[in-house]
Amino acid sequence: MTTEQTMRAALAHTPESPADGITVETVPVPRPATGDVLVEVRAVGIVPDELSWPGTWSDRAGRDRAPSVPGHEVAGVVAAVRYGTTGFEVGDRVVGLADWHRDGGAAEFIAVEARNLTRLPDEVSFTEAAALPISALTAWQGLFTHAGLTSGQSVLVHGAGGGTGSLIVQLAREAGARVIGTGRARDADLARELGVDEFVDLETARFEDAGPVDVVFDTIGGDVLARSASVVRPGGVLVSITAPPPELPEGTRGVVFIVEPNRDQLAEIVARAADGRIRPRVGATFPLAETRAAFHAKKNGVPGKVIITL
Ligand SMILES: NC(=O)c1ccc[n+]([C@@H]2O[C@H](COP(=O)([O-])OP(=O)(O)OC[C@H]3O[C@@H](n4cnc5c(N)ncnc54)[C@H](OP(=O)(O)O)[C@@H]3O)[C@@H](O)[C@H]2O)c1
Repeated sequence: MTTEQTMRAALAHTPESPADGITVETVPVPRPATGDVLVEVRAVGIVPDELSWPGTWSDRAGRDRAPSVPGHEVAGVVAAVRYGTTGFEVGDRVVGLADWHRDGGAAEFIAVEARNLTRLPDEVSFTEAAALPISALTAWQGLFTHAGLTSGQSVLVHGAGGGTGSLIVQLAREAGARVIGTGRARDADLARELGVDEFVDLETARFEDAGPVDVVFDTIGGDVLARSASVVRPGGVLVSITAPPPELPEGTRGVVFIVEPNRDQLAEIVARAADGRIRPRVGATFPLAETRAAFHAKKNGVPGKVIITL
């Protein structure tokens, strides 16, 4: 693979009008750096918020890197392996979470650190795989790394039908927890299907009446997060992924975290997707040429994850 080769890629140009400013252009195929793998992208997950993240616009040294390629949840096939990179061969199916500060996968190719990838079994489609890295790693890290969930505990999942919430529900259930989901009425049946023992429609009922619980995992934020401190049992944890948690009663703790790439955890997740223990919620897919529309999809009511397929 040489720098002369070109590819189609989505480019985000400015933080001022990020989604509307996205163009799809012909650009050089990225050169894999030390420790990288070049992946031919088949599907990539996007997060509407990512266009406001600092890493979209600057590299790790703080230098402007616009225009940048969005999409960090990558599924595809290894096209080249950089000298010295081990663990993958050309032709391997892979999935991974790419560095926030480097170009993403809304492109025909991405150069991505091998350590952030794991092999993808044939049982998991590229589209499903691209819905996993952020959502499922967030669910895993929130439940097990940060809350230390154990069998028999209770978990209240705010936004149980969402891209992240639906995976929190399934992983918590598999871990032997009692799971209470919250969200909008339209997601009640799905949440029950995924394994909640109880569902609270936030528009008509008070989730406080379903507590106290050992773990609150909030994916909504705002008022829901602010009210959640009162439902955490002594010794329990409030995990937030949108904003710092409110002040908590003594004997309970709050955590806000940003998901990190983790190959071993992703391998555990992929194994569960392969044998059907978990399934991601894919709300819509778009071709690369419609990346702009993909970024608008969530605000137009698409549930779950939005995936660009190539
Ligand atoms: N810190 C991290 O590492 C991290 C990782 C992943 C995600 N996040 C953040 O977490 C948030 C959720 O991400 P996601 O991908 O899971 O989004 P999502 O798929 O939209 O899920 C959110 C869920 O909550 C529901 N919801 C939102 N507001 C509600 C309300 N007021 N009442 C009832 N239900 C409500 C949504 O329903 P509707 O679709 O009907 O609105 C949806 O089912 C985003 O802000 C995202 O940026 C952070």
